[in-house]
Order: sequence, then C-alpha cells, then structure tokens
Amino acid sequence: MPPLPKSFHTSYPDADSAIDRRIPDFPIAQLLDEDVYFNTHKPPTYLGEIEAEISEFIDYHIKNTGKKVVLVTSGGTTVPLENNTVRFIDNFSAGTRGATSAEYFLELGYAVVFLHREFSLLPYSRHYSHTTNCFLDYMTEANNRVEINPNFADEMLVVLRKYNAAKESNSLLLVPFTTVNQYLYTLKTISGVLSKLESRALFFLAAAVSDFFLPHSRMPEHKIQSQTSGTLIVNLEQVPKFLSRLVDNWAPTAMIVSFKLETDSLILIKKAIGALERYQHQLVIGNLLQTRKKEVVFVTLKDENWVRLTEEQIGKNVEIESIMIPKVIEAHDQWIKSKQNN
Ligand code: PMT
Repeated sequence: MPPLPKSFHTSYPDADSAIDRRIPDFPIAQLLDEDVYFNTHKPPTYLGEIEAEISEFIDYHIKNTGKKVVLVTSGGTTVPLENNTVRFIDNFSAGTRGATSAEYFLELGYAVVFLHREFSLLPYSRHYSHTTNCFLDYMTEANNRVEINPNFADEMLVVLRKYNAAKESNSLLLVPFTTVNQYLYTLKTISGVLSKLESRALFFLAAAVSDFFLPHSRMPEHKIQSQTSGTLIVNLEQVPKFLSRLVDNWAPTAMIVSFKLETDSLILIKKAIGALERYQHQLVIGNLLQTRKKEVVFVTLKDENWVRLTEEQIGKNVEIESIMIPKVIEAHDQWIKSKQNN
C-alpha cells in the first residue's frame, strides 16, 4: 500500500501572516517605465527560439484548426540577488490554478500556450508529480514486469487519454520562466505573436509576479559573502505594472483576465475593481489564499459573481477550475462577438 498522504505541506505559507495588501497599489507603468525597464535589462538569450516556436504554434492553429488560443501564466517568478544566483526571493504559487485551468481549456477546444515557472505543476503530470507519493508507488511488479498499480489504473487511463489528445492535436505548448525578467520579456514576446489572433486570443494571467526586484545595475556578480558584514540590507525597486502596457499596446484586441490574490476578504472586491479601473481590461478573478480551491469571485465593472464548490462537490474532489473555465470561455465568446459587431 502507498503511504498515506501527509495532511501538511511545508511549502504552504503561514496563512495568518502571508501577504498583507492593505497598502495602496503601485502606480501603473507609463511608457517611460517600460522603456527604462527593457533598455536596462537584457532579454534572455533564448528569447528568439521561444518566439520562433510560438509563431510556428500559432500559425499551425491559424492554418489547420482555427482554434481559439489562450495564454495561461502559472507559478511564481523569482528575483535573483546575485548574477551567479545562489540566493533569490521567490513568489508563492505551486502552479495548481494554472495547470488545472490549462487542462479544462484544452478539453474545451482551446490551443494553450502554458507560460510557467520551470518545475512547477504542469497540465496532466500534475496528477502525479507533486503528490507525497513517490512515482514508483503508482507501479507494481507482476511476473517480473512493471505494471501500473491497479489502485490507480482507471484514473490514470482517463488522464492519459486527455494527455494524448492534447499531444496528438499539437494543442499544448510549454514555455518556461524562472526569473521575473524572463517572465516579463517572454510575456511581451508572446503577446506580440498572439495579437495576430485579435479577439480570438485570451490571456489568463494566473502567475504570481514579483512586485519588487533588484535592478541589474545593482546586482553583484558573485555570491554575497556573509563574513563581510553581519547583516544583509537589500534595497529593492518596484516592478513596473505591465498589465496596462499589455492591454493598451501589446495585445489591444485580446480578452485579458487577471487574478487578484488577497488574504483579507474585506478588501478583495475593492482591489479587484481597482485593478479593472486602472488597467481597463475585461475580467478580474479574485481569490483568497485560504479558500482559493473552494471559491473565487468573477469581478467586472458591472457585477461580481461568486463561484463556490458545494460540500458535496468538495467530497467528490470536483476541481473549481472545471466550473470556472466554462464561464471564462462564455465571457470570451461574448468578447469575440462584441468585437465582430464593431
Ligand atoms: O498556483 P496556486 O498555488 O494554485 O495559486 C494560485 C494563485 C493564488 C497564485 C492564483 O490564483 C493567483 O491569484 N494569481 C495572481 C497572484 C498575484 O500575484 O496577483 P498580483 O496582485 O500580484 O497581480 C495581479 C495581476 O497583475 C497578475 O495577473 C499579473 O499578471 C499582473 N502583474 C503583476 C506584476 C507586474 N509587474 N505586472 C503585471 O501586469
């Protein structure tokens, strides 16, 4: 028998003290901030390769399938403190929301570009990769051969069929990032390619992006030495909020869905409306760190709608994304229609 899953996870933050967002949001990025950022930070060396892969993927779907395309961002960005990075500041996100949502988008006929933190959860493999079981617990030995443990076989067959369908239809493109600099450059590049699809492109921004970073000009080349001073004082700068650039310049006709993560339920809706007013995009999905797997709220400038799992659904392990994603797709279809009528 596999060991019982542990009921605790060391990677979960202390929910009582994790994030305090009562401080006001930063000002939005002006063209100048964007210019300054991209002029003073080098693109990742592989960016050209990624751009070629994404262009090929999008052209394939334009020519052959006519599928709508969603960019799902997932996982947290890091902020390195050294060029030869030993230490870095991380952002909380296992990638569950992004990886799970990507599966439902694929099932409902979208092609998915999955921009994710490298080694965070991936669509399909998420069912097995980060559980407390060792992957060998899914195997068993019979007649000197390795077989799938019958306890898991039925469920695995369902996942395997969905995975193969996504692979065979060339509908899933995995694009990794680790640092916030890689994330920002890659997001900008992907946006440029996706803008070809106009309103048939959807941005589903579930990644947790760093709010503060250490500019390249102030980053030491080598590992910071502990013996030179007893304390380490790090002076971080605000990452420009590139969402307004995405909405206005990078992908002006696409539908854009961003997330708002809070820990204080009293400010969630206010912050979501604040983001919509500031960036003028279409939808904010609000979630609380403590309850994000059981309830989310869809906020537009017209209304707010809660999506909540019932006790019965929780008992049956229904994933909230199976209810969220059809609603997002409905909103995207309306967005496409509204653009066609213009
Ligand atoms: O992966 P899980 O463990 O399942 O957790 C999922 C989640 C809780 C991380 C996810 O559901 C979620 O809420 N993601 C967004 C968390 C977040 O960091 O929100 P924010 O308030 O920092 O950013 C809001 C939006 O602004 C983001 O959609 C981001 O794309 C955008 N942003 C952020 C920083 C930046 N420099 N530019 C931006 O445009």
